[in-house]
Amino acid sequence: MGGPGSTGSTGATGATGRAGANTAPVPTLEELALLASEAEAAIASSATRASWEALRVSWAGAKSGRLKELQALIPKAADKRAFGQAFNLLKARVEDALAARDTELSRVEAAARVEAERVDVTLPGRRPLVGSLHPVTLVSREIEAVFRSLGYSIAEGPELEDDRYNFALLNFPEDHPARDAQDTLFVEDGRLLRTHTSPVQIRTMLARQPPIRVICPGRVYRNDNDLRHSPMFHQVEGLCVAEGITLGDLKGTLEAFIARLFTRQTKARFRPSYFPFTEPSAEVDITCQICLGNGCPTCSHTGWMEILGSGMVDPRVLDNCGIDPDRYSGFAFGLGLDRVAMNKYGIPNIRSLFESDERLLRQVRG
Ligand code: PHE
Repeated sequence: MGGPGSTGSTGATGATGRAGANTAPVPTLEELALLASEAEAAIASSATRASWEALRVSWAGAKSGRLKELQALIPKAADKRAFGQAFNLLKARVEDALAARDTELSRVEAAARVEAERVDVTLPGRRPLVGSLHPVTLVSREIEAVFRSLGYSIAEGPELEDDRYNFALLNFPEDHPARDAQDTLFVEDGRLLRTHTSPVQIRTMLARQPPIRVICPGRVYRNDNDLRHSPMFHQVEGLCVAEGITLGDLKGTLEAFIARLFTRQTKARFRPSYFPFTEPSAEVDITCQICLGNGCPTCSHTGWMEILGSGMVDPRVLDNCGIDPDRYSGFAFGLGLDRVAMNKYGIPNIRSLFESDERLLRQVRG
């Protein structure tokens, strides 16, 4: 067996390298045996990986471990052979103790890991977060469904519009104050962000002849911002043009629509109004759904909420679009989707619709 006892020269070199080892007294054989027992006891009782590691370094550390120091004393021993054998025994006992404790600590560590990773299969599962449609989308789809059932189809148009479609063909004369009421956001090169979805009614009439029944949902823009107004909002425009269409058709259609979209208790009132492209014109208010008519900040304490503009299409507009006003008549209406969503879901501030606050979206489920 090639123990340190037989490699005396190596041990001697190691010892010369360390001043401490040179001066240390050479222990007796009994002392070596006692050291072995002490080491075994300390190692066996090391409670943590860290204290085991500290013992390993102090005993078996490659550079300055206790074993290395003792090995360096072999050449100095009176009986080198006996000392070498006792040292080999000590070394084997320390190494065995370290290995045994290592195995045991690994077992304890593995058990702790299993315990920590234990899954309680009896716990209730976590529900996945399910997305929902935005209130404005919900309302838009609902309105589309109502009008589809009345024979309407859906038309769309661009958000960046021409003055002609947004104003001129809709009978807004140049410099007429009615243009002011639209708080228009202009873009360079004379174009503008559409202030209403009415340009889609123009585009539809230019493209085809009656009978026409369309609704046009979409985003619109105005320079306006308060509890009920946002600079970007949504409208649905409705247009019905055919032979013999009357104000009675307009009223009946809108009343049926409001009853279906809101509750049967929801009242509608028609107020005479003015739009350049309809004559006569009416604005439609419904019972404020936030306060149910009692008055609240959202309805400015009137109990009513304006949701619709409407009227009989002005013959001039029909004419502008190449439709014979002597043969055809029609009605149009435009409503704010956001207003409807606020009323339907009791949302008092229009801005909360556009703040992407999940709490609001979670409360409104289709
Ligand atoms: N376009 C009008 C607006 O936004 C609403 C409207 C549409 C009124 C159709 C009458 C007829 O103010």
